[in-house]
Amino acid sequence: MAALKYAGLEDTDSEEELPPGWEERTTKDGWVYYANHLEEKTQWEHPKSGKRKRVAGDLPYGWEQETDENGQVYFVDHINKRTTYLDPRLAFTVEDNPVKPTTRQKYDGNSTAMEILQGRDLSGKVVIITGANSGIGFETAKSLALHGACVILACRSVARGNDAVQRILGEWHKAKVEAMTLDLASLQSVQHFAEAFKSKNLPLHILICNAAVFGAPWSLTEDGLESTFQVNHLGHFYLVQLLEDVLRQSSPARVVVVSSESHRFTEIKDSSGKLDFSLLSPSKKEYWAMLAYNRSKLCNILFSNELNRRLSPHGVTSNSVHPGNMIYSSIHRNWWVYTLLFTLARPFTKSMTECRGIPSSGPAHDKQGEEMSGTKASCCTGQF
Ligand SMILES: NC(=O)c1ccc[n+]([C@@H]2O[C@H](COP(=O)([O-])OP(=O)(O)OC[C@H]3O[C@@H](n4cnc5c(N)ncnc54)[C@H](OP(=O)(O)O)[C@@H]3O)[C@@H](O)[C@H]2O)c1
Repeated sequence: MAALKYAGLEDTDSEEELPPGWEERTTKDGWVYYANHLEEKTQWEHPKSGKRKRVAGDLPYGWEQETDENGQVYFVDHINKRTTYLDPRLAFTVEDNPVKPTTRQKYDGNSTAMEILQGRDLSGKVVIITGANSGIGFETAKSLALHGACVILACRSVARGNDAVQRILGEWHKAKVEAMTLDLASLQSVQHFAEAFKSKNLPLHILICNAAVFGAPWSLTEDGLESTFQVNHLGHFYLVQLLEDVLRQSSPARVVVVSSESHRFTEIKDSSGKLDFSLLSPSKKEYWAMLAYNRSKLCNILFSNELNRRLSPHGVTSNSVHPGNMIYSSIHRNWWVYTLLFTLARPFTKSMTECRGIPSSGPAHDKQGEEMSGTKASCCTGQF
């Protein structure tokens, strides 16, 4: 055994252990390679087992990958304020198995946004999320931004939008996030938003139609339509029409429409089975907030399905999603009874922390580990 050791071929329990002179490294996109300093050579195969490997998943939270002036990748741990050339994910490598894995459900209702995005580099992807200043929209914006995407938070209040931007920058000062004004209750505002976005000459890879009102008292928008219907469905419908050309040019691109399971508890047909358009934007007399919401969510799904049918041949897919039941966001704010119901259901439903999968952290740190103060909103520029 001692002889083997001195010959550099120690018979260890692990065939993964490297012989002397070898070092394990990773490429920028997560492939493991092996460098031999004595022989000055590199190779993809493990010098002992001959296996090829890649790192599994994303960097631990708080870590960042950088490249030095020689092009060598190094890693910064912002939380513990240290820098290393050793990829922390090397502890979790998987074999590069060319055999296709058997199909199984990868995610379920308990999956978090960070789990789904694990290992994905969204640098260069441009995302618009409506209603991203709070709730599910905000968590989605943050999760995508923490994975490198340039995220535009389309919000009806500039102040609330900018506040959300600051909160994301507080998590990671290099996040590419920007707030833009979009009030779905005004078709003119939707038009202005689309024009302002187009003037940036950015592509658009992901459009998430998330904003919604729930349980709102009856009111008409400036366009003369019932508010729930316009905010939840028609405003998004118009937005997608106005951005369709950019989506097509940016293909592969996708639209995600945030709907709800509650779409099942409604009808938009009359007694003879024909589509009844008067149900979509009812008068005050015929208005019931819950039904109006459910109908708008049904419209979301019908719209998404038809959009997918029309645009998928052009590389733009559309999917609708139910985010979970009674998630404690601010959706219940319109009536104290809803707030009470959401509060009672809260211990049994998915929380915002479970949606995102990461706890809110303290202030972001720069490369030297100094606290960043007065972080500025970093704009998404037309460089993609
Ligand atoms: N929470 C749940 O349990 C649940 C369940 C099923 C489906 N969903 C769906 O999930 C999505 C997100 O809801 P959430 O729970 O995150 O609710 P939320 O916290 O109330 O977020 C809704 C967002 O929509 C924005 N919004 C409202 N009216 C708008 C308008 N006229 N123009 C632009 N933005 C507007 C709000 O902005 P302001 O802050 O300025 O009002 C807010 O940012 C919705 O589509 C909802 O239907 C939620």
